[in-house]
Amino acid sequence: MIKLAFMVDTAYVLGFGNKELPFQMDKITVGDHYVAGRKNLQFYKNNIFKSGTILYIVSRSSSSRIKDMVNIKMISDYMELVHKYKDSKDSLVVIGGKEILMLFLPYASEISVIITNKKTSGDTVFKEWKTFNLRLKKIEEWPGGITYYYSKKPAPVY
Ligand SMILES: NC(=O)c1ccc[n+]([C@@H]2O[C@H](COP(=O)([O-])OP(=O)(O)OC[C@H]3O[C@@H](n4cnc5c(N)ncnc54)[C@H](OP(=O)(O)O)[C@@H]3O)[C@@H](O)[C@H]2O)c1
Repeated sequence: MIKLAFMVDTAYVLGFGNKELPFQMDKITVGDHYVAGRKNLQFYKNNIFKSGTILYIVSRSSSSRIKDMVNIKMISDYMELVHKYKDSKDSLVVIGGKEILMLFLPYASEISVIITNKKTSGDTVFKEWKTFNLRLKKIEEWPGGITYYYSKKPAPVY
């Protein structure tokens, strides 16, 4: 199963996720393995993942600095992950940034989004997920925002 988990403000600007709202981000990012874009790596360099959990970093190039980090696998062909996890009982959580969220969006079966009332410090708008046919499964309201849990029909993989 592939799940997108991210935070935006009310203008759909992506925030810095776990730095700004650690408790809410921890809730929506529960899963077995993770994938992030190479530009997003700064948020995950203090490796907090449990043993056995893989953080895949999608990049067209390789970097020795990234390779040295534990639990991390560099991957250039994101479709390898789509094939591996789309119908798997293991979950792959897509934690951003926008380029990587866009790559996996068609194949995700779940989308968990935090909408914070506080303006985020980012400048990247991500609202393409709203154009999909989503089924709202759960809403959690908390002081400062709302978390939406959606399911979605994933695109077939050939
Ligand atoms: N709100 C949230 O939950 C959240 C979470 C995370 C990030 N963010 C925000 O997102 C921003 C960063 O996002 P971003 O969109 O700029 O970057 P990103 O998605 O983190 O990473 C982009 C990089 O991914 C690699 N990539 C992209 N498409 C690829 C493809 N088809 N095949 C192989 N590699 C590919 C490239 O790496 P190479 O250049 O190495 O080839 C590219 O430079 C940050 O500013 C942050 O604020 C928000």
